[in-house]
Amino acid sequence: MSRVYKYSVEECTAMATETLQKNDRSNDVGGAFTVPTDRLYPHQWNWDSAFVALGWKEIDERRAWAELRTLLDAQWPDGMVPHIIYHSRSETYFPDLDRWGKTPTGNSSGFTQNPVAASCVKWLLEGADDDAYARNEAATLLPKLNKWHQWFFDHRRDAETGAIAIAHPWESRDNACDWDVPLAAVDTSNVPKYTRKDLLLVDAQQRPTPLHYQQFLSLVEAGKANGWQLSAENMPFWVADPFIMAILIAAEYDLALLSDELGQQAIAIDARARATQLEAGMESLWVESAQAYRAYDLLAGQFATHNDIGAFLPLCGGIADANTARAGIVIDQIERWLARVEFAVPSHDPESAMFESQRYWRGPIWLVVNLMIATGLRRFGRDDLALKIGQDGHRLIRASGFKESFDPVHGSGLGGDHFSWTAAMWLYWLKDNA
Ligand code: DGY
Repeated sequence: MSRVYKYSVEECTAMATETLQKNDRSNDVGGAFTVPTDRLYPHQWNWDSAFVALGWKEIDERRAWAELRTLLDAQWPDGMVPHIIYHSRSETYFPDLDRWGKTPTGNSSGFTQNPVAASCVKWLLEGADDDAYARNEAATLLPKLNKWHQWFFDHRRDAETGAIAIAHPWESRDNACDWDVPLAAVDTSNVPKYTRKDLLLVDAQQRPTPLHYQQFLSLVEAGKANGWQLSAENMPFWVADPFIMAILIAAEYDLALLSDELGQQAIAIDARARATQLEAGMESLWVESAQAYRAYDLLAGQFATHNDIGAFLPLCGGIADANTARAGIVIDQIERWLARVEFAVPSHDPESAMFESQRYWRGPIWLVVNLMIATGLRRFGRDDLALKIGQDGHRLIRASGFKESFDPVHGSGLGGDHFSWTAAMWLYWLKDNA
């Protein structure tokens, strides 16, 4: 890609602002929330909303806090915060609300998603212009965040390994290569007829395959049949995932810091105690022969046979500060991947036979993941590499605008357009990374 960009910095900032404003659904019945993009994802998504709050912060700080409030208001009585919240009906998205059957709150999916919210609250508070307002808002969110994290600990922590499991790929990274083998064991004969709507809006080459969709829907049926009380005993998919686990550990430490800062010591103690145990559990996902963190199928008792982007997030949470040798091994691997592609950071090993530069979580770049990797790199003193990742994100947006994801080989934009979390990453982080 040439350095002659399609958009200037000023144009990108104006477009990012307009993207969030157009995707804002504050006037709908559900309260303040932002759709990831119109039509393709017309509801509220959990980790999208948390990252999008960072973008709102640059436009309207109070709106940023409202986004997080709406997200955590959707918490289930047991503490789980669902991955999709359906504030209204839509003709353009499948699965619709009815597919999920009876859920405790009646307005959501039955799975959760990567718990980035506590880290986003910390980042919002650190950058607050209206400190008193921000502290007050953050303080009201802490007990809910604590309850959600405790839910992960109680419901998703494998007793033997101490690792955190996902019950559905949608909880972490939809069609990532990590799930191919465990998903192959899922019997999909329970799936009623359905029509995908995503393929009317995005090129099929950039979306999960028909087989993956069938498997995803089968797990929805399994969750529904189990009354959304999910466990390793009743679900056909239960996979320990270094990606979600690292996010949770980072979120626990951020929750502890927030709680110290805001005088909620009991939460700080809980969060640190969980974080220490989770850190020990993360060790069970380190594969010595591969020198990498890998996903582990808890039902079949086997590790993934390749390295995926989940291998990098323990730089954020899961590798103790003092363990610079381990961090160095992970960083070497990031550098090896980056030597193979033009743009950082692909979501799958570019040397792997499974790598597809355009298919969703099997190769494309996700700028929100880049933010977390860059944060982890800075934690271990690699500001140079964090800067390169920021600069690549800046280039991608100036060339292609606010696409859902990007091709790490060719730099082209992929998936949905006018995408909220990409706009948020520009406003919060990338605009100054020329
Ligand atoms: C989708 O529909 O593709 C979403 O990623 C599910 O959460």
